[in-house]
Amino acid sequence: MTGAVVTGWGISVPDKIVTNEDLSATLDTSDDWITERTGIKERHIGGLTSELAVDAGRKALENGGVDPSEVDILVLATTTPDDVVPATSAAVQHGIGLSQAGAFDLNAACSGFVYGLVVSHGLISTGARCVLLIGAETLSRITDWDERSVAILVGDGAGAVVLQATEGPGQLLGWDLGADGALKRLLYCEHGGFMVMDGKEIFRRAVRTVVDSSLATLHRAGLEPSDVDLFVPHQANARIIQAAGQRLGIPEDRWVVTIDRYGNTSSASIPLALGDALASGRLSPGHIVLLSGFGGGMTWASAALRWGG
Ligand code: ACO
Repeated sequence: MTGAVVTGWGISVPDKIVTNEDLSATLDTSDDWITERTGIKERHIGGLTSELAVDAGRKALENGGVDPSEVDILVLATTTPDDVVPATSAAVQHGIGLSQAGAFDLNAACSGFVYGLVVSHGLISTGARCVLLIGAETLSRITDWDERSVAILVGDGAGAVVLQATEGPGQLLGWDLGADGALKRLLYCEHGGFMVMDGKEIFRRAVRTVVDSSLATLHRAGLEPSDVDLFVPHQANARIIQAAGQRLGIPEDRWVVTIDRYGNTSSASIPLALGDALASGRLSPGHIVLLSGFGGGMTWASAALRWGG
């Protein structure tokens, strides 16, 4: 049996930081309102999806000591491609110097990185030796900065992991991927337009979705919520994370919360949070990690991993 393990990781955010006070200068909002309702204090804004992805991808390869020539496939999770055609993964493949590696974009909105993680494990189980998986977004480019209900939430960034083949079962213990296209109007962006969302309804469904998908994943992995050492949820709203974490019964000191610094970065939010946890030494071999996301579609995706080789 061939499994996959994460052997490198990297993150990238634009230099420019936009604080709640900055937004309050042009919008009818306040630092207090945004902090209390969302947990966000600031976000990074700028650049192109491909630029952020190249930077995060390079860092992940360096971190893992992997030469670009070793990468068989690049999977880029994004909902904000640079262009309609070609796929942004083509620019990223060239930018990192992945020579002839296969490359494709995957759009499952904010669930994209976890979808990509499961797909990457599948690629490795069927013969790939090394997959570079990146979640990268520039939501700022599809945001109406005069619309306070959306503008306060979004940020730009990218996070990447290198997955390599190993003999044995690998890290992935269980997963759950789902979608309900009947809910596609809860969050959408037409070509050339701006994001439109029903924030209240998404909020209501998000908590239930994250809890149900996490429990399904843990069940398939033969685990209980009490086994989870690190809970890495999609960073859309601190209150969603809190409600989901509490309902799952995972102690708060096991949650990863980065929304205060990055806002909602869609496909990039889970790898940014994972990178943050790794940078601060919160993950050790043998730890059980639960990733869970939800987003436009509506989509949802969860995965349970046993960290280490
Ligand atoms: N600043 C100040 N006041 C505001 C703002 C703002 N930015 N936005 C709304 N308000 C006002 C409303 O007008 C309303 O006023 P009223 O009571 O006088 O009518 C009041 O604040 C409460 O508004 P709600 O919409 O009820 O506020 P809520 O607590 O639901 O928070 C929020 C809104 C933050 C959008 C929340 O619903 C949420 O986070 N939803 C989930 C969003 C999400 O996860 N989206 C999916 C991902 S987005 C993406 O992928 C890019």
